[in-house]
Amino acid sequence: METWAARFLFLISIRNSPGCHISFSSAWARLNREGHIQMTSRAGKLIVGLVGLFVLMQVVIPAKTNPPSDPALSLKAARPAHAAAVAVLERSCRDCHSNGTTWPWYSHVAPVSWLVARDVNEGRGEFNMSEFGTWEAKKQQHKLEEACTQVKEGEMPMWIYVVQHPDAKLQPGDVELICSLSAPAQP
Ligand code: HEC
Repeated sequence: METWAARFLFLISIRNSPGCHISFSSAWARLNREGHIQMTSRAGKLIVGLVGLFVLMQVVIPAKTNPPSDPALSLKAARPAHAAAVAVLERSCRDCHSNGTTWPWYSHVAPVSWLVARDVNEGRGEFNMSEFGTWEAKKQQHKLEEACTQVKEGEMPMWIYVVQHPDAKLQPGDVELICSLSAPAQP
């Protein structure tokens, strides 16, 4: 709510700032004197329009939440014998598959913010490591098998995420570690 109000006030202040109008009108006048009226004004209008659109998009702020969750119900707590495998998931998957997302600066700038928030919401919906302990054993096993399949097929972590987070790239042995989470327990 506060952020909405701040953005609104910011927009109003730009619109009412005298400096803004003065510099715009003198820029137009200069362009006209130099005789590039048609071309330049079209390009200028386009730029002003795009900047305006960009500013306007900032008003739509997706919810970027980190819901509180009980550490006792996390995957880490549920699989103490698989600390190394859990560490891989926390390194490569945590931002989209837990309630402990680190939101980078660009996740606050529309339209990227919309895409990032969508990925995190969908990711949490499919597989949320922070809520692992709330699922029944059958669902836990199924989700861990899905995680294994996703990394075997190279679907996860999402490539676009790895471009921004090189540390998230899976290293040799990581796929085996992740798959060990759903492998039948050794006698
Ligand atoms: C940038 C965000 C992001 C990261 C990082 C990420 N995921 Fe995902 N994940 C998603 C999204 C979005 C979906 C749902 C859409 C889809 O299936 O593509 C998903 C779906 C899944 C699913 C369910 C797939 C299904 O359809 O059965 C699993 C399991 C999964 N991810 C595991 C992982 C694992 C394991 C990692 C880390 C190695 C990881 N993800 C990293 C965003 C992410």
